[in-house]
Amino acid sequence: MNDKTIVLAYSGGLDTSVLLKRFLLEGYDVIALTADLGESDAIAGGGAAAALHAVKAKALALGARDAVLVDAKDRFIEDFALKALHANALYEGVYPLSAALSRPLIAHLLVETAHVQGASVVAHGCTGKGNDQVRIELGVRALDPQLTCRAPLREQPLSRPDAIAFAKEHGVPISHTQEKPYSIDANLWGRSIEAGVLEDPWNAPPEDAYAWTASPESRPAEADEIVIEFEDGIPHWDRVDGWEMVARLNVLSGKHGIGRIDLVEDRVIGLKSREVYECPASTVLITAHKALERVVLTRDELRFKALCDQRYSELIYDGLWMSPLRDAFDAFNASFAARMSGKVRLSLYQGVATVTGVQSPYGIYSEALATYGKGDAFDHNAAEGFVKLHGLPLELVARVTAPHPELV
Ligand code: ARG
Repeated sequence: MNDKTIVLAYSGGLDTSVLLKRFLLEGYDVIALTADLGESDAIAGGGAAAALHAVKAKALALGARDAVLVDAKDRFIEDFALKALHANALYEGVYPLSAALSRPLIAHLLVETAHVQGASVVAHGCTGKGNDQVRIELGVRALDPQLTCRAPLREQPLSRPDAIAFAKEHGVPISHTQEKPYSIDANLWGRSIEAGVLEDPWNAPPEDAYAWTASPESRPAEADEIVIEFEDGIPHWDRVDGWEMVARLNVLSGKHGIGRIDLVEDRVIGLKSREVYECPASTVLITAHKALERVVLTRDELRFKALCDQRYSELIYDGLWMSPLRDAFDAFNASFAARMSGKVRLSLYQGVATVTGVQSPYGIYSEALATYGKGDAFDHNAAEGFVKLHGLPLELVARVTAPHPELV
């Protein structure tokens, strides 16, 4: 193990570029690690490779001993996003946890790279106010408690003007996109936008905060109809699955303005923060998955799973992805997979994905039992006894107490 080699989670942005330079000044050999989580593929399907190679080139130009670029798109979707989908994971009921899901994967990549490079130190550019420090560090500790994890921006917060001054002094290039008024994080599961004018929750998000979703004025006048097909819980659309499907779904549902979320959320460290998200594909997929569950699962399963799903979302948000409880929930969710096949039809229109049809060979919806029309197979006589016994406790209480307070 080498104490002078450090693996830095490197985005190519101003903060991590300043950190890279600082570590060099401290005498470290720096390995810059950049993960491709489909941020650029998520919308346009193009320009991704060039953008990522520019990040790698920048790290090397700054003096990194090596710059490792990992295509983690498949791994992100298969090992993280789909597990979250099976838990219908939405933090505080609305946020599909896009940023939160990527951090344990980045922790994996940091640890794997440290092992390959023989480094004993890893580092990230998260601040002390956010959730991401918790997620990355808990991930690293769970995977290899021997590693040291450094967080210089927590030890010594870096203001924007100071970062720019340091960059100018040390020859770190500053692109004009870094003057953007927001802090952005993006991957295939969604894009998060924070800071700037959004810090006042009374301010409506300006249109320039959004990059993936169309404004109400520029959405198509006609709906698009899509059918998501699930096979043992794995979604397909148009015979495509995996990250390519998610990327394509982001484009189509983004065009209809689907997946805009504006949330004053509760961070792990206790404060509230205002976050804006655009999560077109994940919103559509979770909507479709829930619709299929409603047809396939029993009432008891749905009720109990909803409790587990909420807890699962909290584990992801709180940086506890590596916890044994999450493994247990995954096993629980996997137990439904054999029945989770079928089709969900959705209409994408004016910011909303509406389910318009569900079909499954494992569906337990029975038209013959549910119908009010001809061919009703329901045993109406059985209902009488059921009503009698279901209400028995209420009757027993009524017999021994004063009239119910609501009685007039
Ligand atoms: N608040 C979100 C979360 O904790 C988004 C964080 C985005 N991170 C960032 N560095 N901008 O999941």
